[in-house]
Amino acid sequence: LSYQVVLLAAGQGKRMQAGRNKQFLSIAGIPLLIHTLRVFEEDSLCKEVLLVVNKKEREEIDALLKEWKIQKKIRLVDGGRERQDSVYAGLMAGTAGNAKEDLVFIHDAARPFIRREELHFLAEETAKSGAAILAVPVKDTVKEVKEGTITKTTDRSLLWAAQTPQAFRYEVIVEAHEFANQQNHIGTDDASLVEHAGGTVKIVQGHYENFKVTTPEDLLFAEAVIRHRQGGRA
Ligand code: CTP
Ligand code: MG
Repeated sequence: LSYQVVLLAAGQGKRMQAGRNKQFLSIAGIPLLIHTLRVFEEDSLCKEVLLVVNKKEREEIDALLKEWKIQKKIRLVDGGRERQDSVYAGLMAGTAGNAKEDLVFIHDAARPFIRREELHFLAEETAKSGAAILAVPVKDTVKEVKEGTITKTTDRSLLWAAQTPQAFRYEVIVEAHEFANQQNHIGTDDASLVEHAGGTVKIVQGHYENFKVTTPEDLLFAEAVIRHRQGGRA
């Protein structure tokens, strides 16, 4: 059992309002991107990291990998305008030298708190079913709203919040991306592209800790998770 990971780091981090890509921001003294890379570095099932980056940040990222002595096999891939374009670029880099039934994980660099055991559960499920994602039950009641008025309340017991990694056999996700490209369809995550192409995707229950660092207050939550893991008070 093993996988490659397409690690997405080619965004701009606009919602973080830090004036630079959020992955360079430090959490407890270590850059966000390094936190995430270390998880995959330490996972023996991870064969290689396909790190998708913005062309303009290549040098800065090269320097960061050296500074923090990341030893894992890493290939840098140029990303695209939308997240979906970046994923596809990573997949195309990965298909060379891989069999179509090999596993590929797609993960947001902005989710540093993914746990190794979750990666393993996900790999096992994907080896069986071909497509699986981490997700958690939704805690809030979710409303559909039009012009300030609730139009629908969906039964919460049916709702799950999708996270990453999202994991697939190469053939499943490459075909789904190509089908979406043909139809100019943009999905909000990779699982939805497989669904759109008529495929099925399994859920592996993850942890709320694996949130995506997106807005400024998320940096406070991130610091708290690290303090908690180090045995201090959260
Ligand atoms: N990402 C990417 N290529 C893009 C857009 C996003 O590789 N064209 C990556 C981001 O770097 C991030 C992940 O996809 O790790 C999840 O996206 P998001 O949280 O939306 O990050 P950003 O797009 O950077 O942030 P924002 O939407 O606030 O600008
Ligand atoms: Mg974005």
